[in-house]
Amino acid sequence: MMPADHSTIERAAWLRAELARHDHAYYVLDAPTVPDAEYDRLFRELEAIESTHPELRRADSPTARVGGKPLAQFAPVRHRIPMLSIRTETDTESSGAQAFDARVRRELGLDETDPPVEYVAELKFDGLAINLRYEHGALVQAATRGDGETGEDVSGSVRTVRAIPLRLLGSPPPVLEVRGEIYMRRDDFDALNARQLAAGDKVFVNPRNAAAGAIRQLDPNIAARRPLSFFAYGLGETEGWSLPATHFGVLDALTDFGVPVCKHREVALGADGLMAFHGRIAELRDALPFDIDGVVYKVNSLALQRQLGFVTREPRWAVAHKYPAQEALTLLRDIEVQVGRTGAITPVGRLEPVFVGGVTVTNATLHNQDEIDRKDVRIGDWVIVRRAGDVIPEIVGPVVERRTGDLPRFNLLERFPTCPVCGSHVVRGADEAVARCTGGLYCPAQRKQALLHFAGRRAMDIEGLGDKLVDQLVDAAIVKTPVDIYRLGILALANLERMGDKSAQNLLAAIDKSRNTTLGRFIFALGIRNVGEATARDLARHFGSLDALSEADETRLQQVPDVGPIVARCIVEFFAEAHNREIIEQLRAAGVRWEEGEPAVMPAGALAGKVFVLTGTLPGMSRDEAKVRIEAQGGKVVGSVSKKTDYVVAGAEAGSKLVKAQELGVDIVDEQGLLTLLAQST
Ligand code: IVH
Repeated sequence: MMPADHSTIERAAWLRAELARHDHAYYVLDAPTVPDAEYDRLFRELEAIESTHPELRRADSPTARVGGKPLAQFAPVRHRIPMLSIRTETDTESSGAQAFDARVRRELGLDETDPPVEYVAELKFDGLAINLRYEHGALVQAATRGDGETGEDVSGSVRTVRAIPLRLLGSPPPVLEVRGEIYMRRDDFDALNARQLAAGDKVFVNPRNAAAGAIRQLDPNIAARRPLSFFAYGLGETEGWSLPATHFGVLDALTDFGVPVCKHREVALGADGLMAFHGRIAELRDALPFDIDGVVYKVNSLALQRQLGFVTREPRWAVAHKYPAQEALTLLRDIEVQVGRTGAITPVGRLEPVFVGGVTVTNATLHNQDEIDRKDVRIGDWVIVRRAGDVIPEIVGPVVERRTGDLPRFNLLERFPTCPVCGSHVVRGADEAVARCTGGLYCPAQRKQALLHFAGRRAMDIEGLGDKLVDQLVDAAIVKTPVDIYRLGILALANLERMGDKSAQNLLAAIDKSRNTTLGRFIFALGIRNVGEATARDLARHFGSLDALSEADETRLQQVPDVGPIVARCIVEFFAEAHNREIIEQLRAAGVRWEEGEPAVMPAGALAGKVFVLTGTLPGMSRDEAKVRIEAQGGKVVGSVSKKTDYVVAGAEAGSKLVKAQELGVDIVDEQGLLTLLAQST
């Protein structure tokens, strides 16, 4: 074979450096420099050169990350400095920080007159601990923690992790051991599971298992196919390096060497500083792109760390402070169903009560039959339950190893051929994921949900008509349709349990007040399938009157922004139903009125199509007012920040949404900025 000429050698070196630079930008600086496709093109070019000229291959080439040969077994690695664990503060309140600070101060012989101790507060990543050994800047070995004294050589798998540099930047010392955590981001985890599912392979229960499992495989090709990430949080052995004076300095130095260190770290003063960090991260937790199970506090000064030393296998200078677990193990006792407003039947797991995500959970959703099949969840299984933030608790999956005996698979249509509430048939369309009760408004469950929706704050806004009351009214057959609400009298109400005269009067006043509404609210209140609040408002604006809307065909409906064929069909079907038209007429007869007007000429204001998120308290206007004003100019207000968000309007005490906006580089404006935007469009 022809030896490589000078320009090929240079090109290969350039490609190696360029790919390493992109990896660094992506994983360390969190600021991607090229689209994936361009990265892949450079990568393939380097691969092609190296395959024609094998002598140009380098151990630290990005192409050397692809999985090597499977091992027969892992070689043991004796850690030159033991990999310790850290003590965990068991209380999940922020007072755990005080206990730690008090211990440190006592050990250091400090009294109240001494200044606060300086700490570093970090996140506690939920993955697999790893020791990376660099010699003269090159990654030479990666080992798991094992029992702390001896781990396993997992260099082959770890080399495939793009977040881990194969070569350090700058002038690293001759020996540098970096310690940190290999983990998997949630979005990567979801995408991985979607791929596994599509390929008919098993899905993973959580990112931690998917990450740890990949590294512990003898075949590095498995890790190469899993999207893994890495954060450094400390050191092992070092040689020929005059260490920085502080732990924070160490983390900065690691960043300079090109090692990813999480940006959520800070120097905190005393227990107060630690508690503030604990509280702030608790707020941020659900918005982070990866799972954490707590925070970690470390004494910042390395000299003080040495002075404090260790008890058994735990340093006295560090502590983990946990948050309530978001996942827990419990027994699935039974599967029942809930009937929604449109008849959708949702299977719900009845659980042995378990404390998770800060509350005791007894029910968790299983979504639908496909999800039950995919997860292979069976009644009697031990299951993992997840409750993150305010979302509805869900069953992540069974722990199949703990399954005892022959548990039958669960089949929703077999177990519930008829609606448990009204006895109507339950059907599932050929291309539908959900099963539905066919009872329509005959079904009390659907009726209750429909009434609650009708009376809801964003619909007719009948204050005081909540679920307890709706249950009573429907169960006593006093209210069957929304029209009955407007026929309620004081007598019927006063006879209900727990309903005093005063509350009955208040409710009647609220019902009366709701008679005057807007067309958009009224359309939303009707509960047409797939017509949400924003669509209802668009329809009102476009058609100007209910008659015009009810006569529109699918083609005309689709001229409304965001109305596609499915929504258009739902609207046409709704108005084709004589029963629905009757209810509308009866509501009119009962005195329900809305403003009607000429079909609006859509203002193409400067905010048309712009997506806003509001967070925090604005000094001069309420959130609802801001929303109305943005929408009046054609903008849209949504609840959560994503790449599609154009502006985040942040007021005082803005929380995780602001952080998310900063992370995604979304434009952030304050009230003044919003007013400027609004002014431009008028
Ligand atoms: S420091 C001597 N910092 O938690 C201190 N550990 O028991 C050694 N972990 O499995 C650990 N995030 O992998 C430290 N910011 C962090 C951490 C962290 C996660 C893990 C670590 C180990 C366990 C400690």
